[in-house]
Amino acid sequence: MSFPILVTGAAGFIGFHVAKALLEKGEQVLAFDNLSPYYDVKLKEDRLKILKEFPHFIFHKVDISKKSEIETLWKQYHPKKVVHLAAQAGVRYSLEDPFTYIETNVMGHLILLEQARFEEGFQHFVYASTSSVYGMNEKLPFSVEDPTDSPISVYAATKKMDELLSGVYRYLFKVPATGLRFFTVYGPWGRPDMSAFIFLRKIIKGEPIPVFNEGKMARDYTYVDDIVSGILKVLEKPSFDAAGDPVHKVYNLGNSSKESLMRFISLIEENIGKKAQIEFLPMHPADVKETCADIKESQQDFGFEPKISLDEGIKKLVTWYKDYYKDTLV
Ligand SMILES: NC(=O)c1ccc[n+]([C@@H]2O[C@H](COP(=O)([O-])OP(=O)(O)OC[C@H]3O[C@@H](n4cnc5c(N)ncnc54)[C@H](O)[C@@H]3O)[C@@H](O)[C@H]2O)c1
Repeated sequence: MSFPILVTGAAGFIGFHVAKALLEKGEQVLAFDNLSPYYDVKLKEDRLKILKEFPHFIFHKVDISKKSEIETLWKQYHPKKVVHLAAQAGVRYSLEDPFTYIETNVMGHLILLEQARFEEGFQHFVYASTSSVYGMNEKLPFSVEDPTDSPISVYAATKKMDELLSGVYRYLFKVPATGLRFFTVYGPWGRPDMSAFIFLRKIIKGEPIPVFNEGKMARDYTYVDDIVSGILKVLEKPSFDAAGDPVHKVYNLGNSSKESLMRFISLIEENIGKKAQIEFLPMHPADVKETCADIKESQQDFGFEPKISLDEGIKKLVTWYKDYYKDTLV
């Protein structure tokens, strides 16, 4: 009997790309997503439409923080591998509605870990963490050895909690788990609340774009296909110690190149063929100035190798955006 791979958050940006890549490899995918209204639900439904074309795709609209519903579904399918990407994402929104972050990111994570704990022959629980756990660390690039005990947003704190809980479940119940700290992921089918989308939309419409900290910020922008290839590689490689017991590991998945926000904006301008009007704003209290991933461990342990440069990635993003939103572009 074969068991499906559970992908949570499959109607979301990264979850959609992961589910699609698994389906293209011939895997059976079980997908959970509650189609949260945090951003445009039509975009989520359109992603699902593509996934539903695959015969091995099973979708359930379900909230991962609802224990009994998750238990019932889990018993129906018995997944042995999980890619857990469902979350209330977004650093800034966590100042407005911290409660959803705890419900989804902490309670939902715990409920899934509990299922994995009792699943016979369970193989691997791979879950999304974030570069935001590095908080105000100033040493760049961020290494998995660096301290992460001072997050500066509720979002980052919930992701740190996920790492801690996963470590506990590995220690007490031998659940093989790996956490992946993603660094600013962008690309086609991306999230409308993230800067790439906000900039694209506003530049096209001729509206001013908000630029925090006078643009003196830098990010390690990572193209979504590189993230997907990292997730798929790690899914097949849970870590074990010499005694054969699972080890809980956390890895950085980033492009490992720091790009300035102003260069990011000028690449978007070039690809759209229009200059941005910029509204400079002070630093946002929950934002960090710079991020950059040290990916040594990811390279060594599972051959993670990001391939798409920012120039190439922005070109692909703008091409997709113009096509997807063609009816609404003026
Ligand atoms: N995109 C990035 O740059 C980035 C960076 C670091 C970490 N991450 C993490 O990666 C993961 C995927 O992020 P994304 O960018 O695809 O976000 P996304 O918001 O597009 O996807 C998350 C999905 O989870 C679903 N969801 C939310 N609450 C749920 C609940 N209670 N039950 C079931 N489904 C629920 C949403 O409907 C959404 O489709 C998240 O865990 C996020 O925190 C993303």
